Amino acid sequence: MKALLVEDLHVHYGTIHAVQGVSFPVEEGEIVSIVGSNGAGKSTIMWTLAGVVPPSGGRVAIKGSPMPRKPHEVVALGLALVPERRRLFSALTVRENLLMGAYRRAGGDEIEAAMERCFELFPILRERLSQRSGTLSGGEQQMLAISRALMSGPEILLLDEPTLGLAPILVEAVMETVARIRDEGVTVLMVEQNATQALEISDRGYILEAGVFVKSGPGPDLARDPEIRRAYLGG
Ligand SMILES: Nc1ncnc2c1ncn2[C@@H]1O[C@H](COP(=O)(O)OP(=O)(O)OP(=O)(O)O)[C@@H](O)[C@H]1O
Ligand SMILES: [Mg+2]
Repeated sequence: MKALLVEDLHVHYGTIHAVQGVSFPVEEGEIVSIVGSNGAGKSTIMWTLAGVVPPSGGRVAIKGSPMPRKPHEVVALGLALVPERRRLFSALTVRENLLMGAYRRAGGDEIEAAMERCFELFPILRERLSQRSGTLSGGEQQMLAISRALMSGPEILLLDEPTLGLAPILVEAVMETVARIRDEGVTVLMVEQNATQALEISDRGYILEAGVFVKSGPGPDLARDPEIRRAYLGG
């Protein structure tokens, strides 16, 4: 079954045509990456799939059903977005940020179980629980942003530049975690600007330029493509 099916998606901001007819499937259990430079329209695609920005044309299906219009309805269908630049509540503690992601959950036991799952992925967060999120390192903030999204128990996780601003060793660690999250049964759609590692772990990749896909293929193939390396992957 397809987790996501995007067909001929268009998005406008006023007269700016940011996404110009993009189509792609995401099969259940896949990692799919969209790679593109600044302003290509990566975040716009993510915001549209999360129900934050309305499309101006085309169709999106989530698990075979037309996507609902409101963000909370999209979350209820099992999709969660980790936004670009984390967007944590910096004055709130790690625990409070995690609870924000769990607003759909019925009760305390369920929430504690979801938190335990996050600590299995990111043990450091347990030690930081009562610390304000604004005081965490960049890597820890990204772990928290991913964990907050996982607190809703998503079947589909959208990651918008999860390695932005992170040191190379942390980039590697984030990608290993993304692969592990997928191995545990979550479908992943990710956008990245610095993309070699993202493509390496992706079943498929798409190169986005000014709102259209210019190339696609198996992630590792794209990661090795000399033309793509020159244009997007820093040589
Ligand atoms: N709220 C907005 N209002 C008007 N134009 C916008 C808005 N958000 C984005 N844009 C424009 O839409 C285009 C795509 O932007 P988007 O943020 O989706 O790109 P991106 O690929 O995520 O870039 P980056 O790598 O910088 O995050 C750009 O030309 C941008 O200036
Ligand atoms: Mg962006």
